[in-house]
Amino acid sequence: MMPDILINEVGPRDGLQSQHAAISLDGKLTLIRALIEAGIRWVEAGSFVSPKAVPQMADTDQLYPQLPDTDHVQYSALVPNLRGLERAQAADVREVAVVLSATDTMNKRNINLDLAQTIASCTATIKAARQLSMRAKAYVAVAFECPYEGRVSPDTVLMLAELMMDAGAQEIVIADTIGAANPAQVGPLMGTCIKRYGADRVSAHFHDTRGFALANVWASIEAGVRKFDTSVGGLGGCPFAPGAAGNVATEDVVLMAEQCGFRTGVDIARLREAIKSAELLVGYSLGGRTTRWLNTQFPVAGA
Ligand code: COA
Ligand code: ZN
Repeated sequence: MMPDILINEVGPRDGLQSQHAAISLDGKLTLIRALIEAGIRWVEAGSFVSPKAVPQMADTDQLYPQLPDTDHVQYSALVPNLRGLERAQAADVREVAVVLSATDTMNKRNINLDLAQTIASCTATIKAARQLSMRAKAYVAVAFECPYEGRVSPDTVLMLAELMMDAGAQEIVIADTIGAANPAQVGPLMGTCIKRYGADRVSAHFHDTRGFALANVWASIEAGVRKFDTSVGGLGGCPFAPGAAGNVATEDVVLMAEQCGFRTGVDIARLREAIKSAELLVGYSLGGRTTRWLNTQFPVAGA
């Protein structure tokens, strides 16, 4: 049965990309298995970016062919350009995500292209992916605030989303990359996206830098959004966006959604095992806003 709210786990990509400790391929697979055991069915498992830019993602070519349960789990991969798409195709990836940041400077810092060049590159990558019969989605990153250029206008975000849809993107992900959005901004922008494209083609990605991520998720739910990027234990932070904390924690979104009557298909008690697995990988304690309470309800041996 399809859940009411789709949880797209991005910990293995957005969460692990910024870690200092070396993460093994086996460690990534163990974490992904634990997430699937907990009921996660959408996973962004890695990115095909320059290994010089993001060393933690250097083994993504080896990772995808080994991913478990590909019949029941939809895996996506982040690709920054056509070279990334080629690597994704060779690794048998079925869904790719391009990243279009809303400002010149953020694109420059992230992928060394200005905004116009990034639009052209994302358009070409989406078109090529669709021709290869892959599913393609597009992130509009720094959709509320850019760490270099400040406030981003909703009109810019909507224009970029439209360009990506025109290019053939099947889903648009509105991303608050640095965790600077507030619910009063999020609600109207997500509402417009839902009105234009429908809940099947829109998702949201929040970081919890200022503690507003759950409020932003709720504003999005009220606006009709039904798919969220989340990260186990709140793992993460973007190496190219100074000051950004981890993604909204998977357990926080699952707990809030379930308590509000939405089915996510994710088992919180088992998710605690996945958090433990992520902690072992990175070597420090993780957890979202709900952790202290969850610890009392679902004790995990050795946690
Ligand atoms: N995967 C692996 N290598 C790639 C690549 C890809 N997708 N795209 C380009 N390269 C290689 C080129 O082949 C070239 O290799 P060489 O030095 O051995 O000749 C080198 O990277 C430089 O290529 P160039 O096109 O000049 O790229 P760049 O130095 O301007 O870097 C990106 C552009 C996109 C590759 C790099 O900035 C990047 O990987 N950014 C990703 C950042 C990220 O992951 N952000 C977080 C997620 S939003
Ligand atoms: Zn992110």
